[in-house]
Amino acid sequence: MSRTFFEKPVERKTGVNPLGLRGFDHIEFYVDSADQWRDFFVQKYGMSPRAYGDNATGLMGRRAHVVGQGRVNFVVSEPQGTGAEADFVRSHLEKHGCGVRDVAFKVKDAKLAFTEAQRRGANAVRGIFEDANIVHAAIAAYGDTIHSFVERRGRGEFMPGFINVAGGIDDREINFAMIDHVVANVERMDEWVTYYEQVFGFDLFMHFDINTGRSALMSKVVSSTDGWIKLPINEPSSANSQIQEFLDQYNGAGVQHIALLTPDITATIEEMRKMGQEFLDVPDSYYDGSFDERVGRIQEDKAALKKLKILVDRDNEDGYLLQLFTKCVFARPTLFFEVIQRRGRSIGFGEGNFRALFEAIEREQARRGTL
Ligand SMILES: [Fe+2]
Repeated sequence: MSRTFFEKPVERKTGVNPLGLRGFDHIEFYVDSADQWRDFFVQKYGMSPRAYGDNATGLMGRRAHVVGQGRVNFVVSEPQGTGAEADFVRSHLEKHGCGVRDVAFKVKDAKLAFTEAQRRGANAVRGIFEDANIVHAAIAAYGDTIHSFVERRGRGEFMPGFINVAGGIDDREINFAMIDHVVANVERMDEWVTYYEQVFGFDLFMHFDINTGRSALMSKVVSSTDGWIKLPINEPSSANSQIQEFLDQYNGAGVQHIALLTPDITATIEEMRKMGQEFLDVPDSYYDGSFDERVGRIQEDKAALKKLKILVDRDNEDGYLLQLFTKCVFARPTLFFEVIQRRGRSIGFGEGNFRALFEAIEREQARRGTL
């Protein structure tokens, strides 16, 4: 039996931003090979190289590439040399496999954000660094994940220890504008909802309880009161839950997926498929059955969506979203990406697709006589 509950908060705070956040600054991944994962994001995600750092440029313990497109910046770092910093990256890789270390936020004033976050109960991980170009510091979040606060004062190097590189012109069809949301899988969801409410001043924005029979999960979405930072937090609600599988494979809480916002999902997915990125299987039957009734009127051509296997979910009268999930990208089945386009006043996360996908798979099974 599949059930989805959808809730919106009764009252939303507005204008509360105690840490002076201005959106996502970058995401840092600890990986087995910085070159390999730079190439991966350049070839399959249409990103351009933006900066490089290693021991020779003044980056301690790691060798890293920064790649990006639009306001999306990914740092892929591998351990380099000896010493505490390199050992830390190696032990992180050993415990978690490749994964996200830092979900970094842009802030107005990094010293204020860091001081205020600690006053509100966060634990410091890295103290204030300051030069003419940048100020940054970091606090602990779920698992071994951290949040850096990054205050940029000019258009200097990406970070201390990095040198900017010319990225060239990208004329391909893959088009990403910004990070839409970053999803955490944790053991105890409510603990982390409270953390984002208390430390960050975020709102509890939505609540889902999804049980597809194959995978049960609970999810709460916390968001900055301006809506620009959205962090869904998942907790497993059955032993066979995909969230529990993540916690087992990753050895604890961590980032499950990163959703990248595109203004043109059909062109983006078509090109990513051409470049070899694999996506979640969507049976043809997803577009039959209750698709039209569930989705309503959309601007896109249904045949084109069906051909590219793009999912659609209506979240209110004048808003819907189009989305597709990649297969897990690293060796362990942990992290994946989502490509998302929002139409109208779309504010959801595609929760209707959990059920629609499951029902489509059931219809396929029934057709094959295996159900
Ligand atoms: Fe998502």
